[in-house]
Amino acid sequence: MAPASTYTLSTGAESPLTGFGLWKVTENTAEVVYNALKAGYRLLDGAADYQNEVEAGKGLRRAIDEGIVKREDVFITSKLWNTFHAYEHVLPAAKRSLADWGVDYFDLYLIHFPISLKYVDPAVRYPPEWDDGNGVVTPSDDPIHLTWKGMEDVYSAGLAKAIGVSNFSGGLLIDLVRYAKVKPAVLQIEHHPYFTQPQLVELAKTLGVAVTAYSSFGPASWLELNHDLALKTPSLLEHSTISSIAKKHNKTTAQVLLRWATQRGIAVIPKSNNPARAKENLESVLFDLEKEDIKAISALNENRRLADPVAIHPALAIYA
Ligand SMILES: NC(=O)c1ccc[n+]([C@@H]2O[C@H](COP(=O)([O-])OP(=O)(O)OC[C@H]3O[C@@H](n4cnc5c(N)ncnc54)[C@H](OP(=O)(O)O)[C@@H]3O)[C@@H](O)[C@H]2O)c1
Repeated sequence: MAPASTYTLSTGAESPLTGFGLWKVTENTAEVVYNALKAGYRLLDGAADYQNEVEAGKGLRRAIDEGIVKREDVFITSKLWNTFHAYEHVLPAAKRSLADWGVDYFDLYLIHFPISLKYVDPAVRYPPEWDDGNGVVTPSDDPIHLTWKGMEDVYSAGLAKAIGVSNFSGGLLIDLVRYAKVKPAVLQIEHHPYFTQPQLVELAKTLGVAVTAYSSFGPASWLELNHDLALKTPSLLEHSTISSIAKKHNKTTAQVLLRWATQRGIAVIPKSNNPARAKENLESVLFDLEKEDIKAISALNENRRLADPVAIHPALAIYA
């Protein structure tokens, strides 16, 4: 029997285990999305903040028009940006992202960060990013329970089939589940062998929240940003442990890194601008690692977090 390539969310919806990440897909996004769908991807992980939702939507539309996919075949994720956390801004922000994609619902809509920043009118600047354009970051005091109420409105209006969160710590997730009328279906977090977050993954499991991993290749994604810690972190794609496991299975190191997550029920959303690598990533569910491989990879954990907004502003120390 072929290994499963999908899993079931708490909502009952099926989601692919391997999706296509859209962060830093800045050139030819429509073409990249079209090619990803043509290659067989059925999950696209987007966000207002990635500045490419219009282009991504064009790629999706082309694939639909050419009969490659139907809308309902594709699991589309978008994310609420930090400047839209006030209750009254959540629904309009979701609607803006939907209009940009040219679809009438998302399969999943996530709170991108447990961070609220001062509202920026989309007519003034969109997407607003972290600072005001002059390097000034202004935190705002919208509590998450009201943001979640807005997310529940998005869900109730049928604009998202599932809602969830990203970059939430255990404490915030436990609290959210206490008051949520619509439970979060997904938690999207940084997860790779240098940063395995076993307790958070286990907590999500006990709460019935599915985990999606981002930055599955560890530092690889962060090098182009000249990220200090990433530059000092040895490559996972060339790590001797990963390489020897890859050799044993006649797979690439990227495929081993992805399979290490998906075989443990954690979805992945690798990004690649290169069609051959994108195909390789998608095919990573087509083999199984041995138990001892998984154990050896998990043992590489160093609690080395790469994605931390504290680097932007001390008031954003969500993991302190
Ligand atoms: N929720 C959040 O806060 C958050 C944060 C970060 C990311 N994300 C999501 O997660 C997605 C993935 O994370 P990520 O973008 O950080 O990085 P990633 O997928 O871990 O890594 C991307 C990097 O790896 C390279 N790569 C991809 N496939 C490869 C392969 N088979 N062999 C060798 N190199 C390969 C890519 O280069 P090429 O393009 O040249 O192949 C790129 O430099 C994002 O696109 C985004 O959708 C979410």
